[in-house]
Amino acid sequence: MATSGRKPIIAANWKMHHDHLVAIQVVQKLSYRLEKDDHEECDVVVCPPFSDLRTLQTLIESDKIPIALGAQNCHWEDQGAFTGEVSPPMLKKLIVEYVIVGHSERRQLFGETDETVNKKLAAVLEHEMAPILCVGETLEERESGRTEARVVEQTRAALRGVKADAAAPCVLAYEPIWAIGTGRVATPDDANETIGAIRGVLRDLYGETADTIRIQYGGSVKPGNIAELMLMPEIDGALVGGASLDPDDFARIVRYRV
Ligand code: PGA
Repeated sequence: MATSGRKPIIAANWKMHHDHLVAIQVVQKLSYRLEKDDHEECDVVVCPPFSDLRTLQTLIESDKIPIALGAQNCHWEDQGAFTGEVSPPMLKKLIVEYVIVGHSERRQLFGETDETVNKKLAAVLEHEMAPILCVGETLEERESGRTEARVVEQTRAALRGVKADAAAPCVLAYEPIWAIGTGRVATPDDANETIGAIRGVLRDLYGETADTIRIQYGGSVKPGNIAELMLMPEIDGALVGGASLDPDDFARIVRYRV
């Protein structure tokens, strides 16, 4: 457990990689490489494409693997004429515990807005799963000194209407867009400072509950930089893209203390 009292959470965002057959191999390898202690120290989540979820549910349940399943997106309605979408209750039935909401790729490539992110977040909470809410600035916003203002604005917009008791399960991920998939990583001090600003919003909205909400850093997290990031008092974990595809690398990230 970190000195903050918050249990670290490290999540793999596979994005559109690994079909269900590869997914089985990767999760099996992860389960061999991670030990009981690792799971006691840190929540481990794998967010595969939708088409892998049913297969991984079966594997995780039958082999009693202590890895949680996450989805990368969802719709906010329970059902309806929404071709191509997947609803929160459908995910819940597949033992999905986390849903990434508002990833920058969804915002930039698939037209998600603060408003749809807010609806999705509320729907995920309503179905008793934990959203992993992503916020982060573009390079342009960073260079013009608007990092903090941007993440504060995104955080407030996404949490609009969410009360303190409902907000407790939320996980946030600060993901500077210029650091995603680029090999450029925010310095630990920088990431810590911006995450501190996000926690400031949570304190303003939710008082003491804010100190229990976990905030991850994401953007080019690798086995070689995770330890220094995790030393920072505000950083409670990581959302890992590229380096999560290889089970050896991802296991090394989860085992950053070892
Ligand atoms: P990356 O992706 O680790 O490949 O930078 C992180 C993410 O997009 O969540």
